[in-house]
Amino acid sequence: MTQSTNKSGGPMSRGYLVAGNWKMNGSSASNAALVEGLLRGIAECPAIDVLVCPPALYLDAVRRHIGAAPIAVGGQNLSDEREPGAYTGELHASMLNDVGCSHVLVGHSERRTLYGENDACVARKFVVAQAGGLIPVLCIGETLAEREADQTEIVLKRQLDAVIAAAGIGAFINAVVAYEPVWAIGTGRTASVEQAQAAHAFIRGVLAANDAKIANSVRLLYGGSVKADNAASLFSCEDVDGGLIGGASLKAPEFLAICASAQILAASLDA
Ligand code: PGA
Repeated sequence: MTQSTNKSGGPMSRGYLVAGNWKMNGSSASNAALVEGLLRGIAECPAIDVLVCPPALYLDAVRRHIGAAPIAVGGQNLSDEREPGAYTGELHASMLNDVGCSHVLVGHSERRTLYGENDACVARKFVVAQAGGLIPVLCIGETLAEREADQTEIVLKRQLDAVIAAAGIGAFINAVVAYEPVWAIGTGRTASVEQAQAAHAFIRGVLAANDAKIANSVRLLYGGSVKADNAASLFSCEDVDGGLIGGASLKAPEFLAICASAQILAASLDA
């Protein structure tokens, strides 16, 4: 086995990460039920990393409920301000860290399109997240119009380069990149295995042009209508190291089934 295919073993191990993005969904009661469901099944996925990203208001409660179980907690967004202060309604990276978050999503397409976050803003958030001790999950991806105009690689490179310019390639040692084609998010329309692998290989290539070793170590997640029945084929792509799951992360059995797909692949790589 070559190192580049070795996702879960060996010195350049990447391993699988399955992350749930709960978006603006849930309540104290429904979150507790969801976490209970996850806690019942998570022990069956010891060879992968699992992350959930609840709405900010519930991060502390979810983190406490999870306790010592192997499920990491992350924020969905953070302020791009370097220092805490008079920024009404915003959340500083240190606050996410304070309540036990290890990760934070940065640049999700909903933030980019609905809340006007441009590449420069996303790059600032990436930098501030790391400065606050968090692992940014940098989300990038093209719209349908951009794909149809053959702009996919140009868009992905632009989105990545903005962060590389601001943070430096070395920062990617402590980061995750999620490829989420905008046309596949919440639409039930998933990228084909070929489309996903091609985009992921391109992303890794952009990183490798800056530092091949770092590029080989960065986990690249696929996101966009991942479900229990398509996870295994997507996750078996050479450059797909897991998924960022929206709708299907809100039901414990479905999310655990997606985790199980990664677990099976991780266990087979370990064997
Ligand atoms: P989806 O969302 O799985 O509901 O398509 C993915 C995401 O937005 O991260």
